[in-house]
Amino acid sequence: MMTETERLMACVDGRRLWRRHMRMAEHGGTENGGVNRQALSEADFAARRQLIRWGQDVGLSPYRDDAGNLFLRMQGSDPQAEPVLTGSHLDSQPTGGRFDGAYGVLAGLEALQALTEAGLRCRRPIELAVWMNEEGSRFAPGMMGSRVFAGQDTVAGISSVRDADGIPVAQELERLDGLFADVPRVPPGRKAHAYLEAHIEQGPILERQSTAIGVVTGIQGKYTYLVEFRGQEAHVGTVDLAERKDALLAAVAAIDAMAAEFLGTANGTRFSVCRLNVTPNVPSVIARKAEFSIDLRHPDSGELGRLHRRVEEICRAHAGPCEVSVNRLSAADSLEFPVQLRELVRQCASELSMTHIDILSLAGHDARYLHRVCPSGMIFIPCKDGVSHNEAESVRAEDLENGVRVLAAALRRLAA
Ligand code: HGY
Ligand code: MN
Ligand code: MN
Repeated sequence: MMTETERLMACVDGRRLWRRHMRMAEHGGTENGGVNRQALSEADFAARRQLIRWGQDVGLSPYRDDAGNLFLRMQGSDPQAEPVLTGSHLDSQPTGGRFDGAYGVLAGLEALQALTEAGLRCRRPIELAVWMNEEGSRFAPGMMGSRVFAGQDTVAGISSVRDADGIPVAQELERLDGLFADVPRVPPGRKAHAYLEAHIEQGPILERQSTAIGVVTGIQGKYTYLVEFRGQEAHVGTVDLAERKDALLAAVAAIDAMAAEFLGTANGTRFSVCRLNVTPNVPSVIARKAEFSIDLRHPDSGELGRLHRRVEEICRAHAGPCEVSVNRLSAADSLEFPVQLRELVRQCASELSMTHIDILSLAGHDARYLHRVCPSGMIFIPCKDGVSHNEAESVRAEDLENGVRVLAAALRRLAA
């Protein structure tokens, strides 16, 4: 006679999981084998519809909230009990990989299907969540859906954010509303018993240490900025040097000074400028405006606060005759997941004879905001060479399946 866990593990189907990843990757698939499935795009909508079909085939009931989050609910024997949540995001970076985010969603689907096929009815409902705009590449900052769900922002607050073409979130949420009118809609945010998210590590540690499972201890802090230097358009060849107000050269000097200071200490600081817009951006007119993003991270919140002050000081120090404004878009401090969730993941991995280590997440995840709603945790699996936010992102099928096994066992206990 098989034990309950053996029955559950026997129903985890690695081939089905792989097929679904490849099918999901067709929504926004790029010719280099990656995905460009930006938040609230046609590809995002198609991916959601695909997931709803897969979920309904296994008896999950879809619903959504005003912030564009999607949920697929597996009913429990006690429908009034606070649900256990699992999931991640389906939106990607423009040159994203097939597994970042999608893994957490499809791992959750596979775990719920295995529980159903094993005939294991849970007391608590379990809901598979797809958080809107985790990546923040089309609409900045990211994690919009989970922030609203956690009460850290509002639908009104996110609605006015525009993409590079000037399209506001509000307009795309309306489009979503029309396309998914058949899916019930509720106000955002409600209680949950616990949240557990599976994700690829997006770093090299697990692979280098030939370890199957990462017991995620927490997420390092992350601040994002939009900095704007304002100067004056002029003729490069004729304007007096004393009269020049060159916004781009001032911005470059500030960026160079921050990079030298922040990355020169090797104290764990992560810093980069990944987006730079110049106006008028033509070869022989001095830039009137130079606007750039900053992504700044550190495991220690106190150090992050000090670095924040240095961002403002350095930008002002290099403004020269230009004006400068430093706008912090998001400020998420470092966090530690509760011991009971970490211990649960550790136990499930051990009982399934999987190697595992504790690991801090250097990447941000929606679990950051669910942590404010309920006890939350994460399960990492290795990815090839730690490559992510890159079309070459790659994961072994057995690693995908290992993560699902741990997730399914943990969800079973959380929902008992
Ligand atoms: O930026 C992050 O850390 C996440 O992958 N979006
Ligand atoms: Mn992600
Ligand atoms: Mn990502």
